Amino acid sequence: MSVSVDVVAPGRVAVVTGAASGIGFGLAERFAAEGMRVVMADVEEPALTEAAAKLTGTGATVLPVRTDVASPDQVEALRAEAVAAFGAVHVLCNNAGVGGPHDPLWLVSPGDWDWVLGVNLGGVINGVRSFLPLLLEQDAAHIVNTSSVFGVFAGALGPYGVSKHAITALSETLHFQLRQQDARVGVSVLCPGAVRTRFGSSARNRPDRYGPPTDSADTVLERTEQFDRLSAAGADPADVAALVVEGIRDGRFYILTSQNRNEAIQRRGREIVSGGPPAPPFP
Ligand SMILES: NC(=O)c1ccc[n+]([C@@H]2O[C@H](COP(=O)([O-])OP(=O)(O)OC[C@H]3O[C@@H](n4cnc5c(N)ncnc54)[C@H](O)[C@@H]3O)[C@@H](O)[C@H]2O)c1
Repeated sequence: MSVSVDVVAPGRVAVVTGAASGIGFGLAERFAAEGMRVVMADVEEPALTEAAAKLTGTGATVLPVRTDVASPDQVEALRAEAVAAFGAVHVLCNNAGVGGPHDPLWLVSPGDWDWVLGVNLGGVINGVRSFLPLLLEQDAAHIVNTSSVFGVFAGALGPYGVSKHAITALSETLHFQLRQQDARVGVSVLCPGAVRTRFGSSARNRPDRYGPPTDSADTVLERTEQFDRLSAAGADPADVAALVVEGIRDGRFYILTSQNRNEAIQRRGREIVSGGPPAPPFP
């Protein structure tokens, strides 16, 4: 990435999906603190309204737009609203994501496959399709796709891990294609380890149109409690946002947040080369 102009700077415009909570809110808050105008997209309307009001209260210029990133039409409408309000977009964070079931893959319902892949991977695809032409028109721009450590070490966690590996591959492809064109658009893929967010309860945003979930309400609750326990010692979203801003400025492609996952990432490379079967990424 050879852009020398700072894309994170006062007056620039950022669009963040999943901005009502967690990492997305951390990113929106940080971009606003940098003097950027921020379009906050999220499917959960009350949380979005509250999050936008919180940033407006600090003097930030934000535009909340209720958006389901799984819908190509709604992401198109998001781009149109961003342009109508601010005239340009310089930073796009495709960050919205959901967890879904961790059951054996053959037991996952078709609706859960559609939901998890539709939001996580479809959301990034929709963001790329709708916003890339606009980003290419700017003097400098950057796109950040939120994957996960589950998108870089051996696959795990059911459809979630599948979707995150696909986001990493999509980001790498995008990077090659943009460099080939000498485009002024940088790409980063954010691969967080545990972060203290509301991610454990992402089933709160599962629309009924996906049909009956794979798991019972009790199993979903158990998963939420398990995530909350594991992420309690995780990173603060504000620190993750600081790493992202630093990563954009430094032209960093892979942005990791948890060094304790490095060994599992390196092990994956060794296993592939040796032909050995993958060990589970964590005990
Ligand atoms: N928290 C972690 O430990 C962790 C680790 C690795 C990766 N991630 C990734 O970080 C991203 C953000 O998650 P988080 O941890 O901040 O969780 P979160 O639940 O706190 O925030 C996710 C936001 O995405 C929104 N969202 C859900 N479905 C949506 C849809 N269809 N359209 C638009 N918005 C939607 C939610 O309403 C929520 O506000 C996700 O992609 C997740 O996979 C999180």
